[in-house]
Amino acid sequence: MLLLTGATGLVGSALLRRLVAEGQPVRCLVRDPRRLGPQRVRVQIALGDLADPPSFRNAMRGVKTVVHLAASTRDQPRGSIEELAAIATWRMVEAAQRAGVERFVFFSTLGASTHHRARLFRAKALAEQAVRESDMRSTVIAPSLVYAPGDRWLTLLERLSLLPVVPVSGSGKAVCQPIWVEDVAGCVLAILRDRDAPSRRSTVAPHGSATAHERYELAGPQTLTYNEIIHAVLSSLDRERPLLPVPTPIVSRMLRLLERTMHTSTPITWDEAELLEANMVSKRGVADAEAFGVTPQPMSAVLGAG
Ligand SMILES: NC(=O)c1ccc[n+]([C@@H]2O[C@H](COP(=O)([O-])OP(=O)(O)OC[C@H]3O[C@@H](n4cnc5c(N)ncnc54)[C@H](OP(=O)(O)O)[C@@H]3O)[C@@H](O)[C@H]2O)c1
Repeated sequence: MLLLTGATGLVGSALLRRLVAEGQPVRCLVRDPRRLGPQRVRVQIALGDLADPPSFRNAMRGVKTVVHLAASTRDQPRGSIEELAAIATWRMVEAAQRAGVERFVFFSTLGASTHHRARLFRAKALAEQAVRESDMRSTVIAPSLVYAPGDRWLTLLERLSLLPVVPVSGSGKAVCQPIWVEDVAGCVLAILRDRDAPSRRSTVAPHGSATAHERYELAGPQTLTYNEIIHAVLSSLDRERPLLPVPTPIVSRMLRLLERTMHTSTPITWDEAELLEANMVSKRGVADAEAFGVTPQPMSAVLGAG
């Protein structure tokens, strides 16, 4: 049995579709099973919440592999970004070890560091550490920006493109290597099947333990600034618009005000806007994805733009 968290999200739903198509027995830890759509009748469901660690124990019963994707880019009423991304991961690792799980696969992010300006990136760095220090075989997957046509970010951008100018938080000059969610899902499936060549594994055995801890970086074939990504999306919509860089102190003040008025229904929080200032680049480029037999598609090919 494989336990998947975050199955209703961008990566999780693409991965779940493929796992189910392969006939893999999957249990999903979810807050609301309805969000699984048609897949909810094809999987086991464990009701749970990252902010409710006792729910992990029940979800782990009989599980050999955990794929932990769930995280939040914004504070939730029941937990802060740090509690949901870092502390919950640490608790999930503890629960998995106690339940005798053999392998823990964790989604971090490229650029995660305890010194990062973005809270999520700091939390992910701590979570990675908890995973790496476990006694289970662990695999950390650090992707660059993951996208799919119609995802939350591209939809927001599509809405902004109805304006005469598209506001951009900060300079828009941070760089990333966007990777299509289907390419990410393909890599995860290969990782779960152990299709990687052992020589390509970055295996670390901390504290002299014999446990394998692997880390892979998943990046697309193009290195683009956020401004270039916005132009690529606008061009795919056939809606060229000038970009309006808005200084981050102004964005921060405006979005914090919006959060106070709209609460959880705000379309974007300051913590999320700040992620657009984060470089998410792998020196290895597409090498790790290719090692799993996946050739990541350029963004223009996926979006259907020139
Ligand atoms: N997307 C990217 O560009 C990107 C880049 C680098 C790393 N990553 C990492 O990759 C992983 C997957 O990303 P994604 O884009 O697929 O995320 P996503 O679309 O935002 O989905 C987040 C998932 O986490 C679940 N979740 C959120 N809060 C939860 C809670 N309190 N308890 C239980 N589940 C909760 C959500 O469930 P609900 O349906 O209940 O909300 C959803 O299934 C994340 O760890 C993310 O940090 C993503």
